[in-house]
Amino acid sequence: MKTVLSGIRPTGNLHLGNYYGAMVNFLKMQEEYKCFFFIADWHALTTHPDPKTLNANVRNVLSEYLACGLNPEKATLYVQSDIPEIAELYLLLNMQAYLGELGKTVSFKEKARQNPNNVNAGLLTYPVLMATDILIHNANYVPVGKDQEQHLEMTRNFAKRFNNKYGVNYFNEPTAFASNQQMIKIPGLDGSGKMGKSEGNCIYLIDEPKVIEKKVKGALTDNGPEGENTAKPDCIENLFTILKVVSTQEVVDYYDNLWNTGEQKWYGNLKKQLAEDIIKVTTPIRERINDIKNDEVYLNKVIKIGAEKARESAGKTLREVREIMGFRSL
Ligand code: TRP
Repeated sequence: MKTVLSGIRPTGNLHLGNYYGAMVNFLKMQEEYKCFFFIADWHALTTHPDPKTLNANVRNVLSEYLACGLNPEKATLYVQSDIPEIAELYLLLNMQAYLGELGKTVSFKEKARQNPNNVNAGLLTYPVLMATDILIHNANYVPVGKDQEQHLEMTRNFAKRFNNKYGVNYFNEPTAFASNQQMIKIPGLDGSGKMGKSEGNCIYLIDEPKVIEKKVKGALTDNGPEGENTAKPDCIENLFTILKVVSTQEVVDYYDNLWNTGEQKWYGNLKKQLAEDIIKVTTPIRERINDIKNDEVYLNKVIKIGAEKARESAGKTLREVREIMGFRSL
């Protein structure tokens, strides 16, 4: 069976874009593949997380993952820093990474520019740590967005170099997960591109209904159609994109028709409907998030079982890599 792996940094809450862009696919994958979903708390160090809240953030993301329906009995759900094998393999893989290529990585250059006083070695080798996450379970598929594709390509290069150097065919060359249906991109409410934390245009899964109503009400719109069958501007198209995901075809057709007739003054109703249908999706998830977040015993159990399963898989890889490299077995 093929292996799928994905990591998320514990910064902030999941929003509608995460849910439809990634989570909905994860839920299908856990039925069909051997899946590893983990919280990349070591990777979070690049943004200097507050020690007082780091652990709470980790548990928060885990609660949200579980509330969305990730099943710890089907997939392996774990916290990166619980797996010391990752740190050791990271050291070994650092020898396969050249300074030149690390320095040219887009994400590194960006972070170095944003934060010129803290261009540390961990930032430079961020792609090696990510490659380690993937290679430690010899994953085949990594469901990532465009912004992570360069890291995935570097992972393939490190894997290839290791294989060549030691004359083995040990590591797979992982590829981006290409599902049959396209990854759905949920736009933001500000008429811009996609919904994203840093864009500040998100509807979060934990948002209360009142908050969602307010956010949708405040979404950018134009003055209405300027005639029959005109093209929709981006801001209106965006509302329809979300409507298509959360509402019925009937509802979408109804508003589409209103647009096409060139009628005015129905955006208020559209927004009301949109908010209502978003709330229908998020309410059960929000309620589960709050239950799980407060169930310390359950969360501890999930974390423990996940760590055990992940360490078993990681330990096997590390033993084999040590042997290939000529270290004695522990
Ligand atoms: N770098 C990823 C991000 O910022 C998170 C991540 C860490 C990851 N390790 C991974 C994603 C391994 C996929 C596979 O979003």
